[in-house]
Amino acid sequence: MVLSTGTNKIKTAVFISGTGSNLESLIKFSKLNKSPISINLIITNNKLAKGLKHGTIFKIQKKIINFTNKNVAEKKILLELKKNKIELVCLAGFMKILSKNFITNFKGKILNIHPSLLPKYKGLNTHQRALENKDKYSGCTVHIVNSKLDSGKIILQKRVKILKKDTPDSLAKKILAQEHKLYPKAILKIFSL
Ligand code: GAR
Repeated sequence: MVLSTGTNKIKTAVFISGTGSNLESLIKFSKLNKSPISINLIITNNKLAKGLKHGTIFKIQKKIINFTNKNVAEKKILLELKKNKIELVCLAGFMKILSKNFITNFKGKILNIHPSLLPKYKGLNTHQRALENKDKYSGCTVHIVNSKLDSGKIILQKRVKILKKDTPDSLAKKILAQEHKLYPKAILKIFSL
C-alpha cells in the first residue's frame, strides 16, 4: 500500500452521527496515493458518536456541534469549514437534514451516501421498506446533495441481492459493506475528470 503525505489533496470534512464505519473507510482511502482527498475535519451532532474514535486514532480534528438550534449550528459549521479551507463535505451517516441556506452557502461540493437504490426509499428505514415491498434488490447510492432530501445527482450505485432470509439488520450489514467500497469509488469518479 502506497501512502501519501496528504499535501495538495482536496480538503474534506466528514459529517457523522453514529458508528462512523464509512468515516473509517474514507480515512483509510484518503491515505492512499491514488486518493484525491485528505480528511481534515470530522463534524458530528452527537457527542456520543462512536465514530469520533477514528478522529482520535488518526489525529483528525473533531468538532461536536449542538443542533438544538439548527440555524446557530449550521453557522458554526460553516465557520469551521471556512477556517479549515474545506472544499468537500462527505455526509456519512449524518442524521440531520442540512438547510438550503447551508447548502448554498458552502462553496464546495457536498456528497451523501444513502442505504437504498435512490430514487427508491428516500429518508429513513430503507431496509425495512425494501423488505416489506418484497424487492429483489436493494443497495446504496452516492449522490450530490441538493436542497431536496436524497434527491441530488447520482454519482454511483451498487446493487445488493435480497435473500428470503434477510432481516433489516442482515440487509443493513450487507449494504454497509458495499458502502465502504462505493464511497471511495464515487470520489475517484468525481475527481478523475
Ligand atoms: C449507513 O448505512 C449510511 O448509508 C446511513 O447510515 C449508516 C451509517 O453507518 N445513512 C443514512 O441513512 C442517511 N440518511 P456508519 O455510521 O457506520 O457509516
